Amino acid sequence: MYIYKAGVVGGGTMGAGIAQVISYSGVPVVLKEVTPELADKAVKIARSIYQGRVDKGKMSPQELESKMALISAVTDYAEFQDADIVIEAVPERMELKKKVFAELDRHCQPSAILASNTSALSISALASATKRPGKVIGIHFFFPAHVMKLIEVIPGLLTAQETVDDATAFSESLRKLPVRVNECPGFLVNRLLMPYLNEAVICLQEGSAALSEIEQAMMALGWPMGPFTLVDALGLDVCAEAGKVLLEGYGARMQPARLWEELIAANRLGRKNGAGFFRYAQAADTKSAGAEDEALKKLIAQAQAAQPLQKGKFSPERLMYGMVNEAVLSLQENVSTAADIDLGVVAGLGYPLERGGILHYADSAGVDNILQGLEAFTREFGFRFHPAHRLRRMVAAGLTGVGSKRGFFDYA
Ligand SMILES: NC(=O)c1ccc[n+]([C@@H]2O[C@H](COP(=O)([O-])OP(=O)(O)OC[C@H]3O[C@@H](n4cnc5c(N)ncnc54)[C@H](O)[C@@H]3O)[C@@H](O)[C@H]2O)c1
Repeated sequence: MYIYKAGVVGGGTMGAGIAQVISYSGVPVVLKEVTPELADKAVKIARSIYQGRVDKGKMSPQELESKMALISAVTDYAEFQDADIVIEAVPERMELKKKVFAELDRHCQPSAILASNTSALSISALASATKRPGKVIGIHFFFPAHVMKLIEVIPGLLTAQETVDDATAFSESLRKLPVRVNECPGFLVNRLLMPYLNEAVICLQEGSAALSEIEQAMMALGWPMGPFTLVDALGLDVCAEAGKVLLEGYGARMQPARLWEELIAANRLGRKNGAGFFRYAQAADTKSAGAEDEALKKLIAQAQAAQPLQKGKFSPERLMYGMVNEAVLSLQENVSTAADIDLGVVAGLGYPLERGGILHYADSAGVDNILQGLEAFTREFGFRFHPAHRLRRMVAAGLTGVGSKRGFFDYA
């Protein structure tokens, strides 16, 4: 299917960037907002992204104007009637999104794909608001949409294969890296990331390591930043929302550490308001490194008093093996392929490309060692480390990774 025209509903943090990305690929895009002022604001955001390219000498001012001419901002659905694909990026509320999908279903041609940029809501539920569930799909961009390469393409229960193929081809035409993710709570990237971040917070709460020690240990394994720096950038409230979805979806193994709640109650939401795990010189400070402060120590003590955790030994493997296990659970549930899981970790979480991703990490560490490690962690810390059964089957079959030349991948 060729996309001659696209639509975006909602021009906030994500929608404005998505409209810019689409226009950059040369496709005309209609962006709908609720008021002309918000529509103008979204267009200005798209322009400022282009201006950044002009300032760096990557684009001429004429090119900027020709790309901007592809974006039209509106406040109703009239211009959506000949769009081939529409991406919804309104706030994360099911009722609101369902209303938007019902409107899109009424106004768009029957062949149009209706996509959602939702981070966590069910695509199948959104599809139920339309008469074309086969044409409804998740196209999940990451923030900032014009920078991040990864897109999760998420079919719902009734999404047609043709729609998956078209959404994947469209994502590639935007010069992005799409991974297919069968619908599950947290989709792929958040599902892998949150247990990793939560384990870092558990280690901090139980007092097994200091903030800086955990940060440095994870960066030494190749991560571009420490887990607490990442949480502060994402926002503690945003992470806590994702944590809720995972707890509801997967049960007690996703139980968040109490420390999240203590920080949020103390209004430490991350960089955006000047303090999270670290303290920053000012709110929305994107540049300076955070500093550790005494107030955090008090919050850690408070969390530990409310939810006493046995003090264990900190090791970076506690964080890594938890992520490996969640990746293997995703694999055995057919959420994604091994290659797509690794692409998600590299392009979505910044794990070094040369190390290949989390399942390549498991192959290098040895699948047998990972299994033994998870069993030891289960004895020490409880069932959140209970190994995915696929790991046992792999070890029994001799598929132990790089050493045996076959693991999650082949090493002929
Ligand atoms: N912010 C992120 O980092 C991020 C990353 C990936 C996905 N998402 C998802 O993207 C979606 C949008 O998030 P956001 O952060 O851009 O939200 P936002 O609040 O910044 O922007 C949403 C915009 O939608 C507009 N809107 C509301 N109702 C509308 C309607 N009926 N018609 C047209 N516009 C309408 C609002 O005016 C607002 O400008 C959410 O589902 C979110 O979960 C967000």
